[in-house]
Order: sequence, then structure tokens, then C-alpha cells
Amino acid sequence: MQTQTTLHKQIAQFYDQSSGLWEAVWGEHMHHGYWKGPHDAKSPKQAQIDLMEELIRLAPGLSPGSRVLDMGCGIGGSSTYLAQRYGFDVTGITLSPVQAERAGERAKSLGLESKVNFQVANALETPFSTHSFDLIWSLESGEHMADKKQFLEECYRLLKPGGTLLFATWCCKDGALTAREEKILAEIYRMYHLPYVLSIEAYDQLMENVGFMPVHSLDWSREVEKFWDLVIDSSLNPAILGRIFQSGRLVVQGALAMRLMRQGYRRGIVRYGVLTGVKA
Ligand SMILES: C[S@@+](CC[C@H](N)C(=O)[O-])C[C@H]1O[C@@H](n2cnc3c(N)ncnc32)[C@H](O)[C@@H]1O
Repeated sequence: MQTQTTLHKQIAQFYDQSSGLWEAVWGEHMHHGYWKGPHDAKSPKQAQIDLMEELIRLAPGLSPGSRVLDMGCGIGGSSTYLAQRYGFDVTGITLSPVQAERAGERAKSLGLESKVNFQVANALETPFSTHSFDLIWSLESGEHMADKKQFLEECYRLLKPGGTLLFATWCCKDGALTAREEKILAEIYRMYHLPYVLSIEAYDQLMENVGFMPVHSLDWSREVEKFWDLVIDSSLNPAILGRIFQSGRLVVQGALAMRLMRQGYRRGIVRYGVLTGVKA
């Protein structure tokens, strides 16, 4: 079995190698977009912004100066957005040194150095004090966590009493999987460096067990799945294909796995879970 150290090295390497290309082609947000239905024709970038807006509506009671931890911050797309739009003070952490550096550069170029900061840190064992944050924002990082319970316990520890965890994460269908479904999921795990994922129902239960109260869960699979069609289409552009191949084996694998994600949503094996939990 893969150790946590090996997994973390692979995740860091994957994002070190792929983030420049992702930013150049798709921008600073490394997450799905949100579409209201099949006829909603907005751009992927607008849909990514709308996803963040839909998420933040689920965490009322925040105000300028609220302290936010962006767990698995990528190149800081959400962190800078939340600081600019809502005036939050945001700390972002990632396993990738390349991402942390790029996030810092982006913040500087936006004049946000006093509102956001970034560091390389492990979300399972962060260096922050207990009761530090009003909001923990975990947008598509939970699927990488080697121990989901430990991750949620760490989020719980870091929140101030009354603080909210916003957790948007790749999930799997609830219940037994066929051998074919297991195989598709295993390939997605391997190509995106995911140890495993849980169903939305299992996360809901786990968050309650950790102490979050109340916990709410939503399934946004239908709202986000269009993302993969658009990303796959744009990656077929010869210039982008060339850059994918130049970026190395891990990036080529990630690009190939996009088709698996599309298949996963269509078959209902992959689901997009959004969970909120309040620290009692
Ligand atoms: C798909 S990216 C999402 C980035 C960002 N949330 C966004 O929406 O643009 C996943 C992020 O999770 C981070 N990550 C994965 N495992 C982590 C861990 N154990 N500790 C900290 N960050 C982690 C990766 O480094 C990467 O930045």
C-alpha cells in the first residue's frame, strides 16, 4: 500500500507540473463550473465563478475581515476571489511549492498581499492554532486526502465555535459498485492521485460523527458535469495538445483521465458532493 508520504509527493509533483498549463489554458480556478441546466450557455470561467458564488451562499454570517482557510488552494483562485469580492482575510495552503509561489505572485499583482497569504502545508496536520478560522473552504481538495476523518477533524479543530466548513468534493455513488465501475474509479484514482473517495451519504455521516452540527449535503453532479465536455473539447486544440505532451507524463495522464471523469458522471459512478457543517 502507498504511504502518505509517497502520495503527498505525487500530488505535489502533479500540481507542480500541471498548474502552469492549466492557468495558461483554463485560468486560475482549478475546479468545476456550475451550470443551471443543459441550456445554460455560460463560459467555463463564468461557471467557475458561479460555483464559488453558489457555495458562499451556503455559509451565511460572514463579513469583511472574516478569517478563511482555503484548504488545498491551488494557485489561489478562490482565495483572491474571496478577498477581493467579500473582503475576507484568507490563508491558502497547498502541497505544491510551485502553486504556493504562483499564488503569492498573483496576490501581489492584484495588490492583495495584506489580505491573502499562501504556504506549503499538509491539510491533515496544519500549523495553525485551534479556533482560528470563521470559514474553511475546501474546494476539490478533499478527494486527495489520505484519511478523510483526520482531514475533517483537523477542519473541526481549526474552526472557531459557530464557524462553517464548506466542503465541495468528488464523490462516488452510494452502495455497491460493479467490477466495471470499480475499474473506472480505480483508474481515476491512479491518474489524479486520489487515495479513495466516499459517497455523499458517507461524508454526511462522517461529518456528523466528527461533531459538525448541523450538516447539510447536496448533490451538484448535474450542475457541474458539463465542465468535462468543455475542457475535453478545448484540449483537442493542437496547440494545447502540444503543451500537454511537453508538460510530462503526469500531465498527459491527467488529460487522458478527463474522458474517464465524463464517463464516470454519465454512469453515475462519480458524483459531486457539496457539504456544509457548523462547529458546535
Ligand atoms: C484540484 S486542486 C483545487 C485547487 C483550488 N481549490 C481551486 O479550486 O482552484 C487540489 C488542491 O488540493 C491540494 N491538496 C491536496 N492534498 C493536500 C493536502 N494533504 N494538504 C494540502 N493541500 C492538498 C493540492 O495541492 C491542490 O492545490
